[in-house]
Amino acid sequence: MNPPPRVRAVAPGRVNLIGDHTDYMGGVVLPIAVQLTTTIEAARHGDVLELTSTQFDGTARVPLPVTDPADVEPAWARYPAGVAAKLGATTGLVGTIRSELPPGAGLSSSAALEVATALALGFEGSHLELARRCQQAEQRATGVPCGIMDQLASAAGQRGHAMLIDCASETIEHVPVPEDLAIWVVHSGEERSLAMSAYARRREECELAEATLGPLPSAPLAAIDSLGDPVARARARHVRSECQRVRLAASSLADGDAVTVGRLMVASHRSLRDDFEVSTPTIDALVGEALRRRGVHGARLTGAGFGGCVVVLASPRADLADLGTQRWRVAPSDGARVGPI
Ligand code: GLA
Repeated sequence: MNPPPRVRAVAPGRVNLIGDHTDYMGGVVLPIAVQLTTTIEAARHGDVLELTSTQFDGTARVPLPVTDPADVEPAWARYPAGVAAKLGATTGLVGTIRSELPPGAGLSSSAALEVATALALGFEGSHLELARRCQQAEQRATGVPCGIMDQLASAAGQRGHAMLIDCASETIEHVPVPEDLAIWVVHSGEERSLAMSAYARRREECELAEATLGPLPSAPLAAIDSLGDPVARARARHVRSECQRVRLAASSLADGDAVTVGRLMVASHRSLRDDFEVSTPTIDALVGEALRRRGVHGARLTGAGFGGCVVVLASPRADLADLGTQRWRVAPSDGARVGPI
């Protein structure tokens, strides 16, 4: 008998330069895939997903087909189990997961794990299809009604480019990132503990505003201002203004105008803090501290918020040593890939 085929699937994490809490409302986002990745090396055979992780304790032993990924233990195995459920996988994997992505830091380690699992399981299809399945897997495994940004960024990244993703049409424009720019992700040290329930609540609040206004990214400002409910008004104002900033940031980035991109990042942070209320005092202080460093063009919270990380755009000479609790200089990188070992 021939040994079962072995595959290596590699999927990057992402950082969002600008455009948070817009994806699930059909808005625009501007993430990059990063050079930090999650890798699955496994043999494709049997009818069990049997994976150990170098990062987490316990072995995932999930019989296929998966019926309820949300019940799987250990909890980290819900992501691969969710993907197997979404793909209707019946052929198993026996292998290991290695990751350079710190979990819970806002670098989308879960999206990278989902995308790598799908490819290791033999998914074949477009980046968009891959991302959709993984997004649905995450929603099913965790109950969080996330958008498509993280999974699509991990699937479709292009070296040297950010992705302007229109989440309404689900199309991507690759925007070159000037080489003389440094992108840093700085951890606040604050766990994103409230993220799940608060994220779902924000989405509901936006949907309530949308029921009156229509699609928020293009809602007329006067209509937003005339909303009676101050919370709905503020949430809608964030989504509408953030989408404008994203489009301007994408064209400014392509023009090499880092100063404008930086200014837009700062405005984005204020909007996420004041109108969307997803920042924390620790994150605000970290953004303030980053902006005081010489050579920093802009800084903002990135991802869902409620703790986690700040993204900083700076000159390569800027010194960010000792900022936050941990920091990574990231480079716009290629998306996920898979091949035989
Ligand atoms: C999380 C979600 C994304 C997106 C961001 C906020 O990362 O997974 O879909 O909504 O939060 O922009």
